[in-house]
Amino acid sequence: MTFPHLFRPLQIGSRTVKNRVMLPPHAHVVSTLWGTDLEAERHIGYWAERTSAGWVDGVSAHVRNSLVPGFEPTGVGAQSDGHFRQPYFLDRVGRLAEVLHRDDTILTVQMILQGGMPHGASSVLSGPVVNQVPHTLTREEIDWFVAEYAHGAEQIALAGADGVELHLNHDDMLEYFLSPLTNRREDEYGGNLDGRLRFPLRILAELRRAMGPDRIVGVRLNLREEEPGGYDVEGAGGAVEIARALEASGYVDYLSCAIGSPWGDPSYIQSQHHRPAEWSDLAAPVTAAVSIPVGYTGRVTGPAVAEELLAAGHVDFVGMARAVIADGKLLVKAQEGRPEEIRPCVGGNECISRRIVDGTPFSCAVNPEAGREADHAQQPAKHPGTVLVVGGGPAGMEVAGIAAERGHRVTLWEQSETLGGQLRSAAQAPRHEDYLSFLEWQEHRLRRAGVTVEKSRTATVDAVLAFGADRVVVATGATPRRPEITGVELPHVHTSVAVLTGEVAADELGEHVLVVAQDDHLPPLSVADFLAERGHRVTLVQGTPGPAPLVSRYLLGSILARLDRGGVALHGSLQPTLIESGQVTLRHVYSGAERTLSPVDSVVLSCGAVPHSALHDQLREQGVRADLLGDAYAPRRMVFATKQARELALTL
Ligand SMILES: Cc1cc2nc3c(=O)[nH]c(=O)nc-3n(C[C@H](O)[C@H](O)[C@H](O)COP(=O)(O)O)c2cc1C
Ligand code: SF4
Repeated sequence: MTFPHLFRPLQIGSRTVKNRVMLPPHAHVVSTLWGTDLEAERHIGYWAERTSAGWVDGVSAHVRNSLVPGFEPTGVGAQSDGHFRQPYFLDRVGRLAEVLHRDDTILTVQMILQGGMPHGASSVLSGPVVNQVPHTLTREEIDWFVAEYAHGAEQIALAGADGVELHLNHDDMLEYFLSPLTNRREDEYGGNLDGRLRFPLRILAELRRAMGPDRIVGVRLNLREEEPGGYDVEGAGGAVEIARALEASGYVDYLSCAIGSPWGDPSYIQSQHHRPAEWSDLAAPVTAAVSIPVGYTGRVTGPAVAEELLAAGHVDFVGMARAVIADGKLLVKAQEGRPEEIRPCVGGNECISRRIVDGTPFSCAVNPEAGREADHAQQPAKHPGTVLVVGGGPAGMEVAGIAAERGHRVTLWEQSETLGGQLRSAAQAPRHEDYLSFLEWQEHRLRRAGVTVEKSRTATVDAVLAFGADRVVVATGATPRRPEITGVELPHVHTSVAVLTGEVAADELGEHVLVVAQDDHLPPLSVADFLAERGHRVTLVQGTPGPAPLVSRYLLGSILARLDRGGVALHGSLQPTLIESGQVTLRHVYSGAERTLSPVDSVVLSCGAVPHSALHDQLREQGVRADLLGDAYAPRRMVFATKQARELALTL
């Protein structure tokens, strides 16, 4: 497969970009450029691995905020110091620019004030789930911000970056000015589009001045606001009209278009529930309306999708964030004719969510090396030996892959006929096909790395001892958990795994299905989605007040929208205490009051899993050293398993 459009150069203002791929902002979450020296090194190292893209729109830098003393801003990027006035700004951005320029890749820096913190055009909410009323900016404060943006842009030019991008979307303070939904001002900064654009254009004038003719100025633009009252693509004040006005100003060299809010369906980081590049056609009228280059970002999942958009003429360039988190060598592999070797992103958004909901540092579910490139930790093993991995789920496959790539002779035993463990059943849920692509990729990878995979192979202590490996890794996974509820053993109670794999046929479930959720992430919602799609009338109960507390706002909206369309009823703060034929007794976890739900034809348990660590225990009893990891250690999500697998594999 060739990609003739993808690898064509592109002229953006004064800069020639070597291909049509722009990497939009995301790496400050992978490892911040503004943290410790090590974090900054990792940030730069992350990009250094990805210079096959012509353009890194990489540095997302917050503008200093203006606050009354003692006010504590909250939300994304909440801080009052900003990044442009940090003593290390010039040095770190300068070093990044240098690294990228060596490979003929350009660098633009995004200026952002997402969430307002607390500023807005008016004291109006931008959506129904973010209930923080903004402070209405005064004219004096507007002047102060214009000067602050001007200072930031001067720093960008001084650092040697190639340009600046103004963040005019994703609930930025400036989108609040642009949008008729949130801008209700009656002064010169409100009213029609001219008024609503006045503040952004004053800033853009300063950015242009700071960049001069030699560097570039761009705008990140939302193509369509989802909330009623927001702007659309076409029509008065819509994206097409905004794009024309931006071009006419003479300040702007490119438009980087996206879709989605920070919380809705879709979010601007669209989950696996959405088709690749689902809204890219919305960019086409903008591309047609202006002569400056226009790009689209949003689940451009690989080179084939990118090539298609470019060939269709929808846009002049494409943005890819998560696809290159998952595989930093994506473009190299595409260019060298090895696209099947590209590690696919599964779209579960752990990259953005983990930090927010779990409080854990960045990790990618499929690529635990992402963000650690600068450590150069994955070196050939000093003493290659034999490694036996027992269990072929995500943890076992990853540890086997890395160990073999480091030079060990690796054998993987899997009890069932297929690799993948619980991920394979999870892949049966609607819109989860990317999991299957990932499993397919892992199997190919293990083959390429020379791992001997033996399926339908049950490990016993004797078999492990007879094998005589230098190191044994036990990644035997977990089994679905059945909570202690009276009646849980009745024949109409099933696990979600049995339902998803088809072990329990749809007609066995009957019409009314109750999903019992005791798992704080996506699985209960996914099995409810699966059931609704097959025509069942689904009720889901969970003990937590709201659904899936560990699913972040960047994904939750998409699955909740699907469940609502499928007629699924969600109830919080309820736990089943008694399952009977035809009905279930539910107890309110706070008040203790009980109620009966009926009719219930079947009950589906989505209650997590319990570790399957018996082999490890037996090996230890025999004095055999074995490492335990993944769900067999403690059942969590794939991202936890692959991260542990990497850490262990580097010690082998
Ligand atoms: C971890 C992470 C951090 C992000 N941070 C920013 C940001 O600071 N500014 C921005 O405009 N977009 C940000 N985004 C959105 C991406 O630039 C991109 O628009 C989004 O991920 C959809 O593209 P993709 O499907 O190629 O990942 C971020 C995305 C991720 C995954
Ligand atoms: S964490 Fe998930 S969504 Fe993010 S890049 Fe990795 S695979 Fe893709």
